[in-house]
Amino acid sequence: MLKTHDCGELTPQHIGETVQLAGWVHRRRDHGGLIFLDLRDRSGLAQVVFDPHEVAEAHGTADTVRNEWVISVEGKIAKRPEGTENPRMTTGEVEVRAVRISVLNPAKTPPFYINEESEVDEALRLRYRYLDLRRERMAQNLRMRHRLVKIIRDELDDRDFLEIETPILIKSTPEGARDYLVPSRVNPGHFYALPQSPQQLKQLLMVAGVERYFQIARCFRDEDLRADRQPEFTQLDLEMSFVDESDILSLMEILYVRIIEEIAPEKRLPKPFPRITHAEALERYGSDKPDLRFGMQLHDLSEIAGGSGLGVLTGALEQGGVVKGILAPGSAGFSRRELDQLTDIVRQHGARGLVSIGLEGEAGAPVAALQEDGVRSAVSSHLSVETVRAIGAALEAKLGDLALIVAGPEDVVRASLSALRNELGERLGLADPNELAFAFVTDFPLFEWHEDSGRWGSAHHPFTAPRPEDIGKLDSAPGEVLSRAYDAVVNGYEVASGSIRIHDQGLQGRIFGILGYTEEQTRDRFGHLLEAFEYGAPPHGGFASGIDRLAAVLAGDANIREVIPFPKTQTGQDLMTSAPSIVNEEQLAELHLEFRQPS
Ligand code: AMO
Repeated sequence: MLKTHDCGELTPQHIGETVQLAGWVHRRRDHGGLIFLDLRDRSGLAQVVFDPHEVAEAHGTADTVRNEWVISVEGKIAKRPEGTENPRMTTGEVEVRAVRISVLNPAKTPPFYINEESEVDEALRLRYRYLDLRRERMAQNLRMRHRLVKIIRDELDDRDFLEIETPILIKSTPEGARDYLVPSRVNPGHFYALPQSPQQLKQLLMVAGVERYFQIARCFRDEDLRADRQPEFTQLDLEMSFVDESDILSLMEILYVRIIEEIAPEKRLPKPFPRITHAEALERYGSDKPDLRFGMQLHDLSEIAGGSGLGVLTGALEQGGVVKGILAPGSAGFSRRELDQLTDIVRQHGARGLVSIGLEGEAGAPVAALQEDGVRSAVSSHLSVETVRAIGAALEAKLGDLALIVAGPEDVVRASLSALRNELGERLGLADPNELAFAFVTDFPLFEWHEDSGRWGSAHHPFTAPRPEDIGKLDSAPGEVLSRAYDAVVNGYEVASGSIRIHDQGLQGRIFGILGYTEEQTRDRFGHLLEAFEYGAPPHGGFASGIDRLAAVLAGDANIREVIPFPKTQTGQDLMTSAPSIVNEEQLAELHLEFRQPS
């Protein structure tokens, strides 16, 4: 080794020892002849001092080095002079009195500061990711992610799970996104698909008798990217035999609790995790991934709105829509600009507008005390004070609060109010950044209607079991069939999803039929699974938890790119290696492919 110690481990116990360190020059200062280098390695920083009177040659070299040069130094650990200790550094009580320095490699001036937490353009950070990862926050994220995965492995190993790798070149497994395809050179015209998840393989491992499987699995999905989506991402993928929902949910809770308590013990973690049905989540929060750190529930105002005489509300009801509202506490005085911003949010979710009513008066007084001149709204002239009081009462308002109302088709109203709720939770400081409000959402519908293709699709994936009591409705009322699927959510993010699976060949075949696959398509795509189910498939179920999303939540970051060492941009590019890139004619020819310009 080129070093005897790590920079960050030096303490007063080492005083008097001669050490050799190696790392990067983090900062260089020249103080009246003395040169101070903060030397950085993975473990932290150490201050190295060069005195021209003691080590003239080394001092001369230290004078030439610049930030990010790689050097090694030899020296004696000494206590820092009285008054120069740095309590913010773990090694702040000591310094290395250098006797020798070697430059192992000089460095160009980096395109951004590595020794500062300054805002840097993300494209530049991604282009020079190897420099970005040197920065403290990113280095911390790498370490945290390592610990996260290690805790998962340790806990599951203790519980007799086997970690098993499944192939990356496979046949497509549908998870609702487009596949990435890989052409086969030796089988002209044939393609592998990169797995959207190892779903079918883990089920086949249950047929194989594995009983308890997990994998830290890479998944690939060609879909529109967002802050919490990457084209390739990592899941903790898990499957068990002979279980029901409660077994899987308890295991998930045990895992999450251990992870949070070890990695982020400072976070408030309400336990046991509440369980809420999909229908309740939509009804109360307008979302199947509600942020449960605060209340602000949706209330149905359709009945009151029906008699309100306000055209925007009654019109929506006449068209079969609904009217719902939420209450922003203490926000009656929101400015025009603030209300316009909220209106923009609901418009982005398809709503035609937002009705806002400030309930002014003595703050905290009951809404029954509301006077006509206390109604602050663009539509106040169209609303009687009685109607506003009734709205206020339905929302459990007090004077000083702001009622926010959206009218329209139910899904638009829910999505709009859910988005408002999330925004207001942050803006009004109701969403405590130090709390992790986990919950399980259960009883999802089995199918969802796809308007564009005019047929049923799986709400989760086609391998999810229907609730036994709903099997009778499969043909007559597929939209009413509930499934044995569940999600784990935290602070408004979906971090895991899973289900009890179908293990019966006949039922699985029926589901493919309802999804619109012909017998031939079913045989072609899923024949291997249906065949396996004929050889004694045990009842089984499992889940997959997004490691990137979980790591982002633990790092307190909304953007999963912050916890992925080499992520892609919103347009799926790797700015460091310039992937994807053009390939040459010979490579295409070898794969029996021809490039066609997009029309
Ligand atoms: P699902 O598709 O819901 O389920 O994915 C499970 C979890 O993976 C994470 N996730 C993503 N993370 C980052 N980028 C993406 N593009 C992305 N897509 C999904 C989420 C999500 O909750 N096979 C099933 C699981 C099962 O039934 O066992 C599946 O993949 O955190």
